[in-house]
Amino acid sequence: MGMSSVHVLDHPLIQHKLAILRNKNTGVKEFREVVGEISGLMCYEATRSLPTEEVEVETPLMTAKCRVLSGKKLAIVPILRAGLGMVDAMVELIPSAKVGHIGLYRDPETHLPVEYYCKLPEDIGARQVFVVDPMLATGGSAVAAITFLKEHGCRNIIMMNIIGCPEGVKAVREAHPDVEIYLAAMDEGLNDQAYILPGLGDAGDRIFGTK
Ligand code: PRP
Ligand code: URA
Repeated sequence: MGMSSVHVLDHPLIQHKLAILRNKNTGVKEFREVVGEISGLMCYEATRSLPTEEVEVETPLMTAKCRVLSGKKLAIVPILRAGLGMVDAMVELIPSAKVGHIGLYRDPETHLPVEYYCKLPEDIGARQVFVVDPMLATGGSAVAAITFLKEHGCRNIIMMNIIGCPEGVKAVREAHPDVEIYLAAMDEGLNDQAYILPGLGDAGDRIFGTK
C-alpha cells in the first residue's frame, strides 16, 4: 500500500486566521470562533474527493441534472477535548454526519495518550470518518484514535489537524499509511514538553479557557 498524502491547506484565509490563533493575546472567545472558521474552510477542502452521483431536480422552470453526495455516510470523530472545537463547523457543512467521541489525554510525563472515554455511532465501520483534533504533536493521540477506529471496523479515515509537525505526520504515516492527513500548517517540530513550535500553545486550554 502506498504512503498517504499530507495536504497543507495554505489558503490565504486559513493563513490569516491561523495568525490569530497563534497570537498569545487572542482571547478565548475569538480563539474558539476562529478554530471553527478554520475548521469549516478545511472541511471544504478535505471533502473535495467525496463521491457524488447525478440526480434530477425540478426547478421552477425545468428538470436540472444535479450532483449530490453518494457513497458512504459520514462521521466526524473529535479527539477530546480540543477536537470538540472543530465539530460544530463541520456539522454545519455536513448536517447528516454522525458524531463519535474519543477521549484521550496525554500523560504529562510520558506524553503517551491515555484513553478515558469513547462513544461511537453503531455503524461507524461503514462510514467515511473524519478524525479532528487541532494539534498533531508526537502523533500519539492520532495513532491511538485511528487504531481504535480500525478496531471498530473503520476502513476509510481522513485526519484533520490545524497544526501538525514532521514528528506527528511521520508517526501517523508509519502506523496508518492509508490515512490522508489535512493540515492548515506544518510547523517546525516539538519542544522537550512535546509542544509544537511555534504552535499556538495548549489548544484545549485556549478553547475552553482552562488556563
Ligand atoms: C492535545 C491535542 C491532541 C494531543 C496532541 O490534547 O488536542 O489531542 O494533545 O498531542 P500528541 O500528538 O503528542 O498526542 P491534550 O492531551 O492536551 O488533551 P486536551 O485536548 O484534553 O487538552
Ligand atoms: N497539544 C497541544 O494542545 N499543543 C501542542 O503544542 C501539543 C500538544
